[in-house]
Amino acid sequence: EFGPRRHQDRAQETAEEIESQQKNAAGEWEFKNVPDSDSSLPANVKWAEEIAAKMKDSKLGVETVNASKVSSEAELQEVLARAEEGGKKWAALGATERGEILHHAGVIMSQRRADLIEVMGSEAGKALDQGDVEVSEAVDYAHYYAESAKTMEKVAGAKFTPAQITVVTPPWNFPVAIPGGSTIAGLAAGSPVILKPATPARRCGALLAECLWEAGVPREVLQLVTLANHDLGKTLMTDPRVERVILTGSIETAQMFRSWRPDLGLLAETSGKNAIIVTPSADLDLAVKDVVSSAFGHAGQKCSAASLVILVGTVGVSKRFHHQLIDAVKSLHVGYPWDLGIQMGPVVEQPGEKLLRGLTQLEPDQTWAIKPRKLDDSGRLWSPGVRAGVEPGSEYHLVEYFGPILGVMRCDTLEEAVEIQNQVEYGLTGGIHSLNPREIQYWLDHVEVGNAYINRGITGAIVRRQPFGGWKRSVVGAGSKAGGPNYLYALGEWSPDDAGL
Ligand code: SER
Repeated sequence: EFGPRRHQDRAQETAEEIESQQKNAAGEWEFKNVPDSDSSLPANVKWAEEIAAKMKDSKLGVETVNASKVSSEAELQEVLARAEEGGKKWAALGATERGEILHHAGVIMSQRRADLIEVMGSEAGKALDQGDVEVSEAVDYAHYYAESAKTMEKVAGAKFTPAQITVVTPPWNFPVAIPGGSTIAGLAAGSPVILKPATPARRCGALLAECLWEAGVPREVLQLVTLANHDLGKTLMTDPRVERVILTGSIETAQMFRSWRPDLGLLAETSGKNAIIVTPSADLDLAVKDVVSSAFGHAGQKCSAASLVILVGTVGVSKRFHHQLIDAVKSLHVGYPWDLGIQMGPVVEQPGEKLLRGLTQLEPDQTWAIKPRKLDDSGRLWSPGVRAGVEPGSEYHLVEYFGPILGVMRCDTLEEAVEIQNQVEYGLTGGIHSLNPREIQYWLDHVEVGNAYINRGITGAIVRRQPFGGWKRSVVGAGSKAGGPNYLYALGEWSPDDAGL
């Protein structure tokens, strides 16, 4: 149910056109996934070239950010007091009025698609096409949660109490869609939000906040902050008015928040170590394409990325899949995001110790099918790597590296493949490529992941169609799925029993 693909000349589309695409014939909001930009239109190629030229000018690096820099305890108390005050009026508005503002924010983000893509490329190294998809996701969250809030109001009525304050601490890898989705969810539920963008993506966070303010979210209801030190983070998280924290980040951070405050209302989406299984019945051409895009999109820096492919039986024995995979990975065009046509961009900063190990050191029995190479002095641009001979239980099998490396594993049966997939302590995404319905059913019955994809890549969950969230160690706290029907209920207090349901 994507919206109409007309008026897709991005440079020409108007706010009215964008808005009317999100409404039905009666002029009411009606959720539709917003379409990505159609790059087959010559006008959009020109539009993209203009974005790329701007990206190139601003290059990578953070410039000034329109965030309140909180440097002292007193300043933090002011932020909290403002949120508390603003929150009362915001909650009193009701879901329809809040929804109207958030729908409007979706329209503004659509209108500012080019700026959002530009800042994601120049600040966080995101390739233009990946940035485009990410804006669509953020816009979808705005329209989806605006409507969800109205539904929730009908179902739960006054028995739902929004969190007094929601704090959002997003990651840098989806620097618009994740802070956007989390912030908008908090606001839709009726809670004031304090957004602390990830350090390597502060300009992205600032532009997102501008869109929301411009749409009519009051400044005290959404505050964008940077915190000068760790202690302020602890004070913020332990303030009793902060009733929900939406974190997307590492398990260590989630555990730290928990240790600061055991009763914290935490919605944390943490790491993943995700695999795609390929069985002998699969369409191998499709499997290669999906494995490559899932492993190397955004240089492997998605929590949903495939970092393992598990080849079953003859797929691992015959050389066909292997050769096709190697050819496809070698042909990836690597570069900076302002080079249109790149298929893989840089990593967000110079690799730390763990990623460097993943990019350079083999374990026993492993060989490089393709050895990653550092492509320039920045340390950020690496060619993609493929490790063969990854054994169950090895470090590479179990540890998330968050970079452009894929490990190939082999086994005899589908049962073994699922065991290998489940041996990982995380359970975020996973995939199977198979054309045999019995294999697919077996896999669905046994796989331990939140998002299970069949004959498709394993990144790029689409709002409403594929609510996103994991299990096992990929999730800490409330396990509600982002972009799904229950998410807003986790952002306040409501028990169905209380409501008499
Ligand atoms: N939602 C993203 C995806 O599905 C990951 O956070 O790829």
